[in-house]
Amino acid sequence: MQFNQLEEIAAAVQTCTLCPLHTGRVKGVPGEGPTDAEIMFIGEGPGYHENRQGRPFVGPSGQFLDELLAMAGLHRREVFIGNVVKCRPPDNRDPLPDEIEMCTSTYLMRQIELINPKVIVTLGRFSMNLFIPGAKITQIHGQPRRINGRLIVPMMHPAAALHQPRNRELITEDFRRLPDILARADTIDPIDPIDPIDPAPRSNSTRSAATPPPELPPEQMRMF
Ligand code: URA
Repeated sequence: MQFNQLEEIAAAVQTCTLCPLHTGRVKGVPGEGPTDAEIMFIGEGPGYHENRQGRPFVGPSGQFLDELLAMAGLHRREVFIGNVVKCRPPDNRDPLPDEIEMCTSTYLMRQIELINPKVIVTLGRFSMNLFIPGAKITQIHGQPRRINGRLIVPMMHPAAALHQPRNRELITEDFRRLPDILARADTIDPIDPIDPIDPAPRSNSTRSAATPPPELPPEQMRMF
């Protein structure tokens, strides 16, 4: 049943014309992974390689994501990997607000409901902003928070970190901490700006344990 509905979503993505992004589509990228995955990673949208193959994160940032997953003791076959938008934005431009709204309300939010992951790791600001509107990735990356029962872990986007030594270091550090976060997933309090997992000061990090979580406006509620 749940499997069928996810299959239906995956099929619908391939013929979707709900937003202008469909005009550049070679293959839609609905996302992939176990239908009962406990962890879901959400990127921004397909790039050149993903558009050709119809699979998420198969280009250079995907290779880096595989490395990051391995650092967290994970393999892509055991997590679900999806995107905010399912069709490639032209020239890899940012997805527009209308495109994000249409695609997430039609597909992503239904996928989340069906898969029902315990933990969602957002990759980059677009997926982070679905759950934590207005937050700054530089301030809250790596800090999990429980939102409407689900643990949201904002991470930088692998593409943003790939060629940027400082960001690479930060995202690597965040992924290395992921096993601890997952182990404690059930005990993290609602909207708790965590640092107790790793209380050691990280002097050269941009994140701060004292960073208060942003106010959570009502729009966020419809995502769940
Ligand atoms: N970047 C993304 O955000 N998603 C992909 O699937 C590939 C690259």
